[in-house]
Amino acid sequence: MASASAINREQQAPYYKGSSWLLGSLSELEKDPAGFMETMLRNYQDVVQFRLATESVHLCIHPDAIPHVLHENHMNFDKQVFDYKMMGSRLLGKGLLTNDGPFWLKQRRLSQPAFSHKRINAYSKIMQECTRDFLEQWRQKDGQTLDMTSEMAAFTLRIVGLTLFGKDLVKESAEIGEVFSRANHLLTRRLFSGIPDLVKFMTLDFKLRKAAGGLRKVVDEIIEERKGKEDQYDDLLSILMQARDEEGRGMDYAQLRDEVLTLLLAGHETTANALSWALHLLSLHEEEQEHLAADCKAKCNGQVPNFEMFKELEQTNRVVQETMRIYPPAWSIARRCKEEDEIMGYRVKSNSLVFLSQLVTHRHPAFWQDPENFRPSRFSPEESKGRHNYAFFPFGGGPRLCIGADFAMMEAVIILSSLMMEFKVEPVRDEVDMELLITLRPKNGLPLRIHRRK
Ligand code: HEM
Repeated sequence: MASASAINREQQAPYYKGSSWLLGSLSELEKDPAGFMETMLRNYQDVVQFRLATESVHLCIHPDAIPHVLHENHMNFDKQVFDYKMMGSRLLGKGLLTNDGPFWLKQRRLSQPAFSHKRINAYSKIMQECTRDFLEQWRQKDGQTLDMTSEMAAFTLRIVGLTLFGKDLVKESAEIGEVFSRANHLLTRRLFSGIPDLVKFMTLDFKLRKAAGGLRKVVDEIIEERKGKEDQYDDLLSILMQARDEEGRGMDYAQLRDEVLTLLLAGHETTANALSWALHLLSLHEEEQEHLAADCKAKCNGQVPNFEMFKELEQTNRVVQETMRIYPPAWSIARRCKEEDEIMGYRVKSNSLVFLSQLVTHRHPAFWQDPENFRPSRFSPEESKGRHNYAFFPFGGGPRLCIGADFAMMEAVIILSSLMMEFKVEPVRDEVDMELLITLRPKNGLPLRIHRRK
């Protein structure tokens, strides 16, 4: 935190009043979160304050504000905020995403080896195999219209199940995807409902607990199947099951279950959204689609790419990055400011909420020219030179940077390159809107027609 004497107590961030004297901006954010974020970006460039019922919020829009929260002074910004608390108490328990403090650090250190360069190399082979199976399925569906959000979710769920837990979830994937999706909706709606509508609140809560119960059953099965065979695998599940603390104690069952559930959820839904949005944007930009297909064909010679080819597939990397700039799958990060602090010269009182939003910062007009336009060449080395480190932060930053960032990039590049080499995607619907839940997804799915290339 900034030293108390150094804080400029006069300098308050501009205040957005909101439509309700009682709830501040809560109902605006609930009704149309994308519209609300757009209004913030249109009217403010640095930091803006608003109120969500009793909570005072600072939204950091300028990239200069972000490293202070995520990195330089991260100890002063914890996860004691309503969305992580709700996710924790209703669904993910004390898994990596929702955990905090020294216990989080211990668990993070335990899990980290499963995401090393060497492990990602090993996972890429499984990703390749799954992609080959998936291409075979798509060949049977040539000419059909498919919902990309469910296609991609099933695909990435299978990959995360096999790589991290050695379990093929192919049969369960439709059901799991459905329950995850329901939990995502319920969590978001539950977050915004409160005392004013107690019946809605209770109903949502009941449904959410039921969905979470279903998911825990799947995780129980995964763990049960592994018991006694921990030393025969070297994936994340075995690492977690064999981990011992200084006193030789293993992780208790509830903690193990929370970690597995967190990785199943965090490890598939975001990547599936990135891929769905990429296919959507490519379907609207035929030239970019053809350019990408040609580049992949030239570099991979029709083969599903491997670990070594990842870096060479520059065009696919750029398409994935540009997609996550426009449609960041994790669109906001929330923290609570523990002690009074200062962000970009503005005073932030202790206990206030601090929001960072990739959705607004990735479209900040001072850092991105024509921010609404899809132009993957923005991520070429020439154009990226000198860009602010936090103008683009799809995976967060600092010590809580996404543990699966390299995993996700490898997976997205392998899948997208392979699909583009063999298939063309065509839009079906005129408009595709964003749905801002815990993650950012296409509203009402994303139907696209697929055609096999000649
Ligand atoms: C395109 C795909 C992905 C995106 C955009 C993404 C984004 C993020 C972001 C922004 C955070 C930080 C949240 C915060 O600071 O509050 C995060 C954390 C996390 N992500 Fe990802 N993620 C992706 C894929 C993955 C994958 C593939 C995995 C696992 C296989 C994963 C597992 C996690 C976990 C466990 C955390 C919590 C880390 C911690 O706090 O120690 N994510 N992710």
